[in-house]
Amino acid sequence: MQAATVTDATTTARITAASTATPTALPRTRSRRPLPRGLTAGLFGVGAALPEREIDNQHFEDRLDTNDAWIVRRTGIRTRRWLDEGAPLAPLAAEACTAALADAGRSADEVDHVIVTTITPDRITPGLAPEVARLIGAHGAAAVDVNAACAGFLYGLDQAAALVETGRARVVLVCGAEALSRLTDQEDRGTAVLFGDGAGAVVVAAGELDRGVSRFVLGCDPEQGDLLYADNEDRKLRMEGREVYRHAVARMTEATTEALAASDLTVDDLDLFVAHQANSRIIEAAANELGVPHEKLAINVDRVANTSSASIPLALAQAERDGLLQPGATVALAAFGAGFVWGAGIVSWKELRHVCA
Ligand code: ACO
Repeated sequence: MQAATVTDATTTARITAASTATPTALPRTRSRRPLPRGLTAGLFGVGAALPEREIDNQHFEDRLDTNDAWIVRRTGIRTRRWLDEGAPLAPLAAEACTAALADAGRSADEVDHVIVTTITPDRITPGLAPEVARLIGAHGAAAVDVNAACAGFLYGLDQAAALVETGRARVVLVCGAEALSRLTDQEDRGTAVLFGDGAGAVVVAAGELDRGVSRFVLGCDPEQGDLLYADNEDRKLRMEGREVYRHAVARMTEATTEALAASDLTVDDLDLFVAHQANSRIIEAAANELGVPHEKLAINVDRVANTSSASIPLALAQAERDGLLQPGATVALAAFGAGFVWGAGIVSWKELRHVCA
């Protein structure tokens, strides 16, 4: 049987150009010297990028049976940013990565590994990470996408810390980048109001640190996969909101409690709790169960809505701008998303200004 061929002039031109173009950088892999013993992975820089286009709650009030008061009361969301239709996500991710590198005082040439966490890559394949590496000029770096929905950034951070602490990489970029507007059903008031687009990144490298990026508590419950998903045909996020809410609070609370115990800390040792920004009520409910006071909560869901795996780095960047994060601060991170997958971990914030290795 003859295989069906689906092509058009643009596709043909793109494939021909790609196969005949001279590569701009020779493929190369770094030879990695083992790290000196006793070094710990830490966070050295943060960067954030949001699309220009702002979508406030009035946008939905004009189109759906909803209103600003309901959205603010039930979710805490006041506004969000969306990419223009058809606009690529990779440049936004690259902007966040470039800002994180500048903040850490490192250059793109030093990056060994680019991890991009996303459920909305620009193409099915290649992933977003190779294009981000190209855009920032990290020509010698490895590049990989991680898909763990809203918990993706914490899975990426855990992998980055492992790469650094085993000496397989010296400088790793972890970037959460999402264009959830592409997966949002604009006719469904139950989900349309919840999601936004954005990108945030951190630089992970080794230092002589007390805590750095400690071991993360990660988990998954695949039995609950049908409560929150987007499938290939429909390509829209579908969610049993109330159930997701219940699981999100329980899993983030448990994982954070375990992460604190694994680090020999109590909730009183925390300077800030940065939970996945899905809904301010979820964050507050988890904080109440843990006993974290309101002034130690990072909340920016009001300004950016739920940006899935971009939400934690965006919240970290915002918290630093707001003066809530000082060097050496002890921070709990927690996230929950489709899968269900979740994670939590304790990190010290920019414990050192400069990478040791
Ligand atoms: N405007 C007005 N009314 C609405 C809207 C809206 N935008 N959306 C739902 N309603 C209505 C419902 O139809 C329902 O009406 P009914 O009582 O007549 O049936 C009523 O409001 C209550 O609906 P609930 O779903 O019970 O409302 P709830 O208080 O649970 O809030 C929400 C809904 C905001 C979705 C909440 O459940 C939530 O935040 N869930 C978790 C979301 C989350 O954590 N997602 C994280 C993962 S996302 C990811 O992984 C990509």
